[in-house]
Amino acid sequence: MGLHILGTGSYMPEGVLANDDFKRFIETNDEWIRTRTGISERRVATGEPTWYMGAQAAKNAIEAAGIDPAEIGLIIDTTITQDYCTPSMSCIVQRETGAVNAACFDLNAACSGFVYAMDMAHRFLKTEPSSKYALVLANEQLSRITNYEDRTSCILFGDGAAAAVVEYKEGVLYSSHLGADGTGAKFLFAKSALPASPFIDREKADRQWHDFDAAPEGRYAHGMKQDGKEVYRFATQAMPKAAQAAAEKIGFDLSDLDKIVPHQANIRIIETAMKNMKLPMEKAVVNIAHHGNTSSASIPIALDEGIRSGEIKRGDKICLVGFGAGLTYAAIIMEY
Ligand code: UT7
Repeated sequence: MGLHILGTGSYMPEGVLANDDFKRFIETNDEWIRTRTGISERRVATGEPTWYMGAQAAKNAIEAAGIDPAEIGLIIDTTITQDYCTPSMSCIVQRETGAVNAACFDLNAACSGFVYAMDMAHRFLKTEPSSKYALVLANEQLSRITNYEDRTSCILFGDGAAAAVVEYKEGVLYSSHLGADGTGAKFLFAKSALPASPFIDREKADRQWHDFDAAPEGRYAHGMKQDGKEVYRFATQAMPKAAQAAAEKIGFDLSDLDKIVPHQANIRIIETAMKNMKLPMEKAVVNIAHHGNTSSASIPIALDEGIRSGEIKRGDKICLVGFGAGLTYAAIIMEY
């Protein structure tokens, strides 16, 4: 078993939203945001659709991998901010990249999405010998679902995209652990922007919506809603739990990791998770100060930046680990 990363790429939109810019929408200040989250600024798309960001990241990854896109047998696109109900984002990225022989589908596991998708790609490539490579990408435009009137959440999120071209390889380090706790769905959610059906029976609809979403019509219609403290508590436990579970499957000791690429949600979450895994902060790849939380794109953006800066080197034992809405969690241990 094993998964080999041939190349990575990312795309960050040009718009910069610095902490002080939030004063336009809410009562806040740079010091509060920096000390509570570690974020100084984040990027926001100012015209490009989500698929465009993903396609640019994918092209960069294909170029870094130095492969013929026609040899890609699978594209998995992870997002919670897709431009269309249908077709899938991955089909649009296929059109843009010329990966004409790929099967395409999207995956939604929120911020854990990229790790989930990498593991799905591993399983697919292992059992489908006609597929040489997989393209796994994440593109997110959280500025479209962020509630800029909610000061406890809007300061966290940004936009961006990243991708990796991978192949199946025998005999290299690989383990994964994926999980979810749907009872925590109420702690972090954004309602679908689909209009109501013309056949709707309002009374029935009110009875049948979930407990956490049974509020008067429209109350949660715009943007993400979260219980920051509950998500924080979950995150600090879920990331170590996922990494440890992946390690145990192959008798691996987490202290042998060279680098951890954690979901970039809050610097304090990363610090606590690293402490819980008994790993020094130097082993964590961190770029949250400039990007904030870009949901499923956050791990691959950090991975790509870590690789391009030389922080992650060939042969390094790395762990990709994330958590997110769902609530979901996921970890992969592999060699770069
Ligand atoms: O991908 C997963 C996405 N979600 C997460 O990762 C969220 C995880 N949770 C967190 O990161 C933290 O809970 C937050 C950063 C969201 C909030 O930090 P906190 O330390 O839990 O703050 P809090 O909500 O307890 O608020 C403390 C105080 C409150 O004032 P009072 O009631 O003590 O007077 C808030 O009203 O800070 C106030 N506050 C702010 N002040 C200035 C909340 N947001 C802001 C703000 N600027 N933006």
